[in-house]
Amino acid sequence: MNVEAVLKALEGENYLVEPQRLRKLVEILLRRQKDLILFSENVKNEHNFSAIIRTCDAVGVLNIYYTYDGNKTKIYNEHITMGSHKWVFLHRVENAVETLKGLKEKGFQIVATRLVGNSVHFREVDYTKPTVVVVGNELEGVSEEVASVSDYNVVIPMYGMAQSLNVSVATAVILYEAERQRSLKGFYNKPQLSLEEIKEILQKWAYRDIIEDRKKS
Ligand SMILES: C[S@@+](CC[C@H](N)C(=O)[O-])C[C@H]1O[C@@H](n2cnc3c(N)ncnc32)[C@H](O)[C@@H]1O
Repeated sequence: MNVEAVLKALEGENYLVEPQRLRKLVEILLRRQKDLILFSENVKNEHNFSAIIRTCDAVGVLNIYYTYDGNKTKIYNEHITMGSHKWVFLHRVENAVETLKGLKEKGFQIVATRLVGNSVHFREVDYTKPTVVVVGNELEGVSEEVASVSDYNVVIPMYGMAQSLNVSVATAVILYEAERQRSLKGFYNKPQLSLEEIKEILQKWAYRDIIEDRKKS
C-alpha cells in the first residue's frame, strides 16, 4: 500500500483539509510504527513530557501510554510540542503494571530505561521487535513494580559527572536507536496500519478535530 493507493481509496470522503494536507497526513500514517510504544511512568514536568511527545511524533510512534499522579489536567505545552501532540495518541492509565502486562500479552517486549547494576547497554536490545520503551519519573525513575514486569533494563552510558540524562533526552536517545534499527530493516517503507485504521484516524485528524478547532475559535 502506497500513498497513491490510499489517496485513491479515500476519494469521495469529505475531509475538511486541503489535498496537500491530506497527502501529508497519509504519508505520516504510512510510516507510523504501531508496534513501538512509549510508556511514561509519572513524568511530571510539562517541558519534559512535551519534548517526549515531539520525539515520539518524529520517530513515528503512534501511541504513548502514561501514568501521572499530579493535579494538572494537561501535562504538555502546545508551544513545546509544536503541535505534535495532535498526531500521537495519548492514553492516560491508572495502573502501569496492569497496562504493561496487557501489552506483554499482545506480544510486546517491555524495555525499561534504568540506571541500575543489571541494566544492559541500550544498543543491545532488538527494537525491531514489538517494543514498549518505559521511561521514568524525573526523581524516582522507573518503579520497582514496573521493572518487575520488564524484559530488559537498559542504560545509556554516562561518562561525566551527572548521574543521569534529562528524561526527554534519554527518550530521544533510545527511540532514535529504535529508528536506526527499524530504518535499516525498511520498517518506514512497510506500512503497519491497515486502510481501515488509516481511515479511522483520518476521521479524527482530518474531520472531527478540525470541527472541534473551529468551534473553539
Ligand atoms: C532523571 S532520570 C531519573 C533518575 C533517578 N534518580 C533514577 O535513578 O532513575 C529520569 C528518567 O530518564 C531516563 N534516563 C535518564 N538517564 C538515563 C540513562 N543514562 N540510562 C537510561 N535511562 C535514563 C530514565 O527513564 C529515568 O527514569
